[in-house]
Order: sequence, then C-alpha cells, then structure tokens
Amino acid sequence: MGPLDLHTAMVLSMCCHFQLTSAWTVNNFLMTGPKAFLTYASSVQVGAQCGIQECKHQFAWEKWNCPESTLQLSTHNGLRSATRETSFVHAISAAGVMYTLTKNCSMGDFDNCGCDDSRIGQTGGKGWIWGGCSDNVALGEKISKQFVDALEDGHDSRAAVNLHNNEAGRLAIKATMRRACKCHGVSGSCSIQTCWMQLADFRDVGNYLKMKHGHAKKLEMDKKPARAGNTADNRGAIAHTFRSIARTELIYLEDSPDYCVKNQSLGLQGTEGRECLKGDKSRSQWERKSCRRLCYECGLRVVQKRIEVVSSCNCKFHWCCTVKCEKCTQVVTKYYCARKEGGRKQHNKAKRRLRARQQ
Ligand SMILES: *[C@@H]1O[C@H](CO)[C@@H](O)[C@H](O)[C@H]1NC(C)=O
Ligand SMILES: *[C@@H]1O[C@H](CO)[C@@H](O)[C@H](O)[C@H]1NC(C)=O
Repeated sequence: MGPLDLHTAMVLSMCCHFQLTSAWTVNNFLMTGPKAFLTYASSVQVGAQCGIQECKHQFAWEKWNCPESTLQLSTHNGLRSATRETSFVHAISAAGVMYTLTKNCSMGDFDNCGCDDSRIGQTGGKGWIWGGCSDNVALGEKISKQFVDALEDGHDSRAAVNLHNNEAGRLAIKATMRRACKCHGVSGSCSIQTCWMQLADFRDVGNYLKMKHGHAKKLEMDKKPARAGNTADNRGAIAHTFRSIARTELIYLEDSPDYCVKNQSLGLQGTEGRECLKGDKSRSQWERKSCRRLCYECGLRVVQKRIEVVSSCNCKFHWCCTVKCEKCTQVVTKYYCARKEGGRKQHNKAKRRLRARQQ
C-alpha cells in the first residue's frame, strides 16, 4: 500500500466511524422513546451526522451546501420548508441512520441482531450458494423509521413529503447493496462460490441520492395546513396525490430560495466567504466552474489567498500495525467569494450621505 492509498483509506474510513459532539435531539429521544431506544440512540446520532457529512461532500461546490446538523430539520426550528434540498437532507439522514445501525448489527454491537443467515446454504444462482455474513438491514430500517420518522409529528403535506423522502433514503440503502463473493474449490479453481449481500460504501449511497436530487419532482397540492378535525380528509388527499410517485423518488413542495444570499430566518449562509476551485486540469468540469457558480453568479468577486497548510505526508506503514506520518507545510493558493469592492464603496457612500443629512 503506497502512502497515497493509505491516506485515502484513512480518510474513507472516517465516514460512519467517528465520534460526534453535536447534541442532535438525543434529549428528544431520551424523553419520548421507550427505554430500549437508549441502546440505539448513540448509533442514531452517529448515523445522522454521517448523513450530513455525506451531504457536505455531495454539495461541496454548490451554492447550497447542507445544514450543519439535522437539528435544522427539526419541526420546532421554524425551518419547515420542503424544498428539493431539504428532500435530500431527509433522505440522506434516514439513510445514514439505517446504514450505521446495519453496520453495528453486522459487527455484533447489538445483542438482538446479527448477520442475515436466512438463506445460508441455499443455491443463489449458477455456481454459487448463499454464505458468509449478509448485512441485515431489517433492524436498521426499523430503528431509522422509529427515530427519524418520529420527528414528523404533523399531518400536513409537508410531514407527508418528509416521510416519503425518509423512506426514499432507506430504499437507497437497499438499492445500492451489492453481492460479494468468495471463491472455493480445488486450488482456487472457483468451481463454487459463496456469496452474501453487503452494504455499498456510504459514498455510493450519497451518489445515488444526489442523482435522485437532480430528478426530484415538485408536488402540486393544496398547501393549506391541517385544520383540527379534518386530518382524515387531509391524509386522504395526500395519499391520493402520492399514488403516482415511486417510493424511490425524492419529492418537494416549494421552490428553492435564493441560496446566494444570507437569510437568517431560513438558516441560509449565502455564498460570501465560500471557497471555490480554479485552474487545475485534474479537477472535474463541475469543480472548475465552482468560482463562477458560487461567486460570479451571485454577484460576488473572487479573491485569492495564500494559505499555509499543514498536512500528513510521507506516511509509512510499520509492521504491525501503526502508520507513521511526517508533517509537511505547504503554501497553497485558495480562492474565496467576496463582496465586490464597488458594491461596498457604494454602500459606504450611501451611509456617509445619510449621516451628513442627519447632522
Ligand atoms: C455503532 O457504530 C458506530 C459507528 O461505527 C459507533 O460509533 C457506535 O458506537 C456503534 N454502536 C454500538 C452500540 O456499538
Ligand atoms: C428571507 O426569506 C424570507 C422567506 O422567503 C423572505 O420573506 C425574506 O425577505 C428573506 N430575507 C432576506 C434578507 O432576504
């Protein structure tokens, strides 16, 4: 394994395997959930944060780049919009929770669940039989439903849309699962294989849901909030509208706001101060156009900064099993969106004029 591979491996292993400090609604869960839920609460937290981290990766070079935590999804936060982007947050969070719990299950972290051995020994197809440890998604799915769906306590169309997107996220876990096999037979002849179903990398789940985000459908329906007494009617109307939509597709109700501008009441940061990428042919087209997308399209300019970056380098693998790295300092040029000078000057001039008039 070369130093680069090692570094990549270290970075990749971070998702879904890290400690988190965010206090994501644990308290909610601890207060409302049955005692048994305590067992799963920390995994749920890790999973939700893992979803947000993946969201940040997927939207790194877009105007909107994900909330800091799922806290912002909370019903009690006032951020109850159902846009194309919140549909993604719901899906990836529900998926992250299901994913983490499923991993926990396979690793034997919980007493009451383990690998899915229901088909072991059965013939799966030509030349292979079921064996090994198939990831068992049933528990993760159930717990994800109980924890994540519980955040939707309304009976209005927004709640229904959010629940639909949570479900689409969980289905993404199943849709991206892959069969993995191992060869058997005389001296590796591979005359017979044992196979099992395993979760894809969470990155693949992210890619899959990003594609669904691109194809998300806007739902046209009566957006009146549920009034007391007519929740049954409401549910009926919602169910009718939903009948035509596949469970795997993301849906939304409202057009996206302008992500260029900061809007505190919507919890949006705007793109001022965001980093963008320039030059470098090795980057994707999408990345190379990030300055245009984040800065120019938002009426901002690009400023250049020289920044000293300290990183691990020359990593060596020592048998067995430590990785020793050196610290390397490098000066790199980074680009950021900044307000136009003219804009600010005009702004100041206007302020001065106002002050002069007041005196
Ligand atoms: C489940 O997995 C996550 C991430 O790998 C880990 O942080 C958590 O402690 C695990 N839960 C249990 C109960 O072991
Ligand atoms: C923030 O968004 C709300 C809702 O769309 C809008 O009414 C308000 O004018 C926006 N504020 C700013 C500063 O753009």
